[in-house]
Amino acid sequence: MRDTDRREPLHHADGPGGTDPCACGDPAGTPRLLPLAVQRPHGRPAISCRYRCNDACARPAPNPTDHTTFREVAGAALSRRRVLQAGLVAGMAGTLAAACGGGGGTPAPGAGASAPLPSTLGFAAVAPNTEDALVVPPGFEQEVVIRWGDPVLPGAPAFDPNAQTAAAQAQQFGFNNDFLALLDVPGSPGRALLVANHEYTTEPFMIPGYDPAAPTPEQIAIGMAAHGMSVVAVQRDPASGRLTPVTDRVNRRITATTPFTLTGPAAGDALVRTTADPEGRTVLGTLNNCAGGVTPWSTVLSGEENIDQYFAHGEAVADPAAKAALARYGMDGGGTDRKWETADPRFDLLREPNEPNRFGWIVEIDPFDPASTPRKRTALGRFKHEGANVRVGPTGTVAVYMGDDERFEYLYKFVSSRTHRAGGAPADRESNARLLDEGTLFVARFGPDAPTPGPDGGGEWLPLVESLADGTGRSFVPGMTAAQVLVHTRTAADTVGATPMDRPEDVQPHPTTGRVYAALTNNDERGTPDNPGVDAANPRPRNTNGQVLELTEAGDDPGARTFSWSLLLVCGDPAAADTYFGGFPKDQVSPISCPDNLAFDAVGNLWIATDGNALGSNDGLFAVPLEGPQRGRVQQFLTVPRGAETCGPVIEERLALVAVQHPGEADDASLANPISHWPDGGTSIARPAVVSVWRTSQGGAPAPLVRA
Ligand code: FEO
Ligand code: CA
Ligand code: CA
Repeated sequence: MRDTDRREPLHHADGPGGTDPCACGDPAGTPRLLPLAVQRPHGRPAISCRYRCNDACARPAPNPTDHTTFREVAGAALSRRRVLQAGLVAGMAGTLAAACGGGGGTPAPGAGASAPLPSTLGFAAVAPNTEDALVVPPGFEQEVVIRWGDPVLPGAPAFDPNAQTAAAQAQQFGFNNDFLALLDVPGSPGRALLVANHEYTTEPFMIPGYDPAAPTPEQIAIGMAAHGMSVVAVQRDPASGRLTPVTDRVNRRITATTPFTLTGPAAGDALVRTTADPEGRTVLGTLNNCAGGVTPWSTVLSGEENIDQYFAHGEAVADPAAKAALARYGMDGGGTDRKWETADPRFDLLREPNEPNRFGWIVEIDPFDPASTPRKRTALGRFKHEGANVRVGPTGTVAVYMGDDERFEYLYKFVSSRTHRAGGAPADRESNARLLDEGTLFVARFGPDAPTPGPDGGGEWLPLVESLADGTGRSFVPGMTAAQVLVHTRTAADTVGATPMDRPEDVQPHPTTGRVYAALTNNDERGTPDNPGVDAANPRPRNTNGQVLELTEAGDDPGARTFSWSLLLVCGDPAAADTYFGGFPKDQVSPISCPDNLAFDAVGNLWIATDGNALGSNDGLFAVPLEGPQRGRVQQFLTVPRGAETCGPVIEERLALVAVQHPGEADDASLANPISHWPDGGTSIARPAVVSVWRTSQGGAPAPLVRA
């Protein structure tokens, strides 16, 4: 039962000048020199931003829509919401902490602290720190499962940072592991498949002697081979959480050159045809694979996110309509940082204008069949896909929840027309393989003017396009064909009036309650001149710490057209008046900043991995109960090493698996002057790696990660 009576009013302490302005001012597009010692307001080094997302936070957000003004939203919000919203609006108007702080916010630590409540999680929260280590609570153990460069395919060479080749990398674990899945192999006790995304490469931190101004063709090929995904068989140790990689015929590397099949109504359309693929149905590679999801039919979904950074010369495109379409996805620059366009013309927009339309999709792979051709599911729309997570509804239809990770972008849902078949017969698998090709794509509009008001607000799912069994589609957006809606989904969502959000990352349905949790990482331009103001679901201007929303579908049906929602967390320093932790006393929670990837444990707690930290600590992994008197009690379970981001995570009953991404990346660091030697220590090169954490065994299997 939710403990709504204990909710405290949310206050706002930060006015428009109350948080750091974005300090990174790289002009969009043209090749750039590395900025020195410049940190984004969310705490991420400039070099990580540059190589991961093309400095998205330092550039104007590419959503040009003339959204509702703050004044309109504030007026509507004041008319329908209670103290919570009033406090925020007052903050936006310049009434700062002094005024808000007297209104009953939970006291900061040391300021009349509340009586401590016993934790239900069963671990001592890890304190914020800046160590070059992965720090876990007392009573827990950890071990690296696999690192960048470790062998994946049979016969792969051992990693040698000074003798890297593209041929070796294509057989080894890729760079910058992000999403993780761990799928048990039926009929093989203890055997599982670890599936990992390799989101992006940061060549200056990978390749000794790398010159960003003149990468060699081999270095470019190494970068392409280090992208994509890995499938690695692992053997479980029954007495611990140890996972040992196994050389197995099922192991696979997917890279920036692996063939994919386009499916759904955009497949074959003129918008996706290229010189190399005049049929518009076969794409080489997947790029910038961020988060993902495991389907009930045992495939893995992966989101192609910041695809703009790979495509050069958008600023020189002559046709105004084409140029505007590219700019809506951030492709308005000159040469790219990695310079792939110098090695392969498909990355040059002046030579292959449709190639970027073949990226930005949700891809689906069958990790159990290494010979299968992975798919790009166009029915799920094209944007900067964070991830995709599935819930099967009461009638068997499938909902896929997705976020478009950029400032002022949107939340989406796809609802299948076909129903999921739980049997494992070939006919069932064949039917399930079409689930994500037939159905309707929706985008979210949040209150205050939407129907179905809930605890904090209502919302509705606006239909964009229906994908049909014959491979065609039906557009619901005036002036756009079905294929146009699917390829230019952002523009379609602009047209129907979707709500611009604070960087939607993971959007995940709870496995038992069905409530949907949306991590909104941050948005330092919210409420600034010429940008959308605060609204009920995005309540802070210059939002550097992010928030987590909780959505409840009408009738608990994932196919519903309306929903209600609440703010679960408004992240940041608990001592700050503008933070909120589900109503739990704020002197008993861990600070949390920039929520990103989500997972659920065996007893239904929410786990949150962070991307950046505006509070100055290393990134971390946090657990938070969702039910009863502990609801909102955020506790930090681990921190990752210097410069790293916490990704993955997989939370099983007896182990937690995290992907440590970009350890050691900092603007004043380099391979010659490293700030991290994680995970191997000494003078070793820092390597992204997957780590398993488990409770120390007292004999037999380790105890569960958290108390039931
Ligand atoms: Fe790859 Fe949205 O972070
Ligand atoms: Ca993310
Ligand atoms: Ca991330």
